[in-house]
Amino acid sequence: MKAVVKPLQQTRFGRGQIHAGHPAFWSDEAATAAWAARLAASPALSHAFIALHGELGAGKTTFVRHLLRALGVQGRIKSPTYAVVEPHEARGLAIWHFDFYRFGDPREWEDAGLRDIFAARGLKLAEWPGQAGNFLPRADLDLRIATASDDSARAITLEAHTPTGRALLEAVRA
Ligand SMILES: Nc1ncnc2c1ncn2[C@@H]1O[C@H](COP(=O)(O)OP(=O)(O)OP(=O)(O)O)[C@@H](O)[C@H]1O
Ligand SMILES: [Mg+2]
Repeated sequence: MKAVVKPLQQTRFGRGQIHAGHPAFWSDEAATAAWAARLAASPALSHAFIALHGELGAGKTTFVRHLLRALGVQGRIKSPTYAVVEPHEARGLAIWHFDFYRFGDPREWEDAGLRDIFAARGLKLAEWPGQAGNFLPRADLDLRIATASDDSARAITLEAHTPTGRALLEAVRA
């Protein structure tokens, strides 16, 4: 459980730049898994950065777990909350799962080799990207998860910022 209260996540885009984006709906966790499997089929994932937004418990880690499983990651998939980043590998694809919730010291960016990771090929998935301030490059895709009520339904908004992001959108649009 995360007990630390953090300020609301900052968006890195001015209001004028925000548009409705592409919506999706996950009625329950099985729907989340099915949607993640569709995304996993996209070749554009091989070099992409997806920023995951949403409140505590929205389902960011859960979504990542389903995506990693669909990509072929085996074994336990730990949440990176304490380590900031958990590396994975599946079928030759390098995957880095970040959680910047507790990211505080900018020196960590260099010390933990995060700059090198973002320069490398592979899939980067980041929870709480706003906590890393201006260190992060612009995401190819912003995925926002909203919890409608206390049930298992989630409303998703997707916003692509690059050709890679748009290719990912195409994969899940069908
Ligand atoms: N449709 C759904 N999609 C994803 N998770 C769901 C869904 N329905 C219920 N859940 C549950 O919601 C919880 C989401 O927790 P999770 O740790 O994934 O959230 P999080 O967004 O990563 O939170 P944090 O900001 O604390 O890291 C899990 O217990 C998961 O089983
Ligand atoms: Mg999480």
